[in-house]
Amino acid sequence: MASTLSQAGKAWSWFIGSLTNHKSMAAYFEPIIQGVLPAWRSDKIRTQVREIRYENADMFTLVLKPSKQWQGFSAGQYIELTVQKDGAWISRFFSISSSPTYFQRTGLIELSIRIQEKGRITPWLPQALHKGEFVNISPALGDFTLDSKPASVCFIAGGSGITPFRSMLQNIQLEQTQSKQAITLMYYARSAQHFAFADDFEQLAAQHSNITLKLINSEIDGNISSNHLEYFSQANKDTHFYVCGPSPMIQSARQLLKERNYPDDQVHYEFFGPEPIHTDIQTDATQVLFARSHKQVSSTQNSQQTLLELAESHDLKPVSGCRMGVCHQCICQKQSGVVYNTKTKTYSDTGAQEIQLCVSLPINDVVLDL
Ligand code: FES
Repeated sequence: MASTLSQAGKAWSWFIGSLTNHKSMAAYFEPIIQGVLPAWRSDKIRTQVREIRYENADMFTLVLKPSKQWQGFSAGQYIELTVQKDGAWISRFFSISSSPTYFQRTGLIELSIRIQEKGRITPWLPQALHKGEFVNISPALGDFTLDSKPASVCFIAGGSGITPFRSMLQNIQLEQTQSKQAITLMYYARSAQHFAFADDFEQLAAQHSNITLKLINSEIDGNISSNHLEYFSQANKDTHFYVCGPSPMIQSARQLLKERNYPDDQVHYEFFGPEPIHTDIQTDATQVLFARSHKQVSSTQNSQQTLLELAESHDLKPVSGCRMGVCHQCICQKQSGVVYNTKTKTYSDTGAQEIQLCVSLPINDVVLDL
């Protein structure tokens, strides 16, 4: 019975696809529906901008009200935000900085976003979006959550990596429960004015004897070090560490914790942006032909440059989003050659197939339909 139904479903999809050239009737009627409901998308969750406020010189918070279809989230998760810029849909991933308790009480979520100096989207967003406008979001994603409840945890945050921890800590603040879990927050910022939510955290630490706050000004105290872990982390051998921030900080923290013999399952981390690529893959100097652009470039030996980076460094502008193998916006047709996918850790065939530019390294000469 189930297989008859699924065959009927496939036949219907095929019929709709042949008739409309779209995956569904909803996608076909999207432009008409958008006339009544701006920013409506058949594959996303329509969400209203309720407020935009600055947290400090380079971070702002978007307060959003998702429609009723949105299913909620766990503290520490992130979403894909999709907005329209110059007529094109653009997506970026951001951690939710407010708590599930806040969402249950108000129906609102907050994204606290650092303005990237040379970014295309983050400096533009707070200027372009206005209260009352609609954007789109995805369901909540990611597994950087506090599902198991270790007796002792140490959060290590760098810069905008504070956002998932703000979500976790705001839950405690709003629920006003006294937990026995020992929590230390080591929060690194590049100078005093770059700490966000510092007043909230100080208030929380003053109200809860199990919470310890260490605001670490990197300008004065330097970056994460063995001494910092020794004197600030309040850790014991059973402590679980949660690390979120820029790649160099995460890599240093992981190395330092390894040297202190913490097993991998006690060290949880989330990269903001693409995870650095480190493979033992040896590649010869290869030629990459961007066939549609009539451009042939060399990928120097073992440069570990992805095909997306290679294209961009030669003035091509392929579509991209997350740059970490999640959103699939950078999918491109490879016509020939072998690439290595750093996310799935697999090699492609030699023939034609779709690949993700942002996580693919050329292994031999490659021809792309780009
Ligand atoms: S840019 Fe998102 S998967 Fe490549």
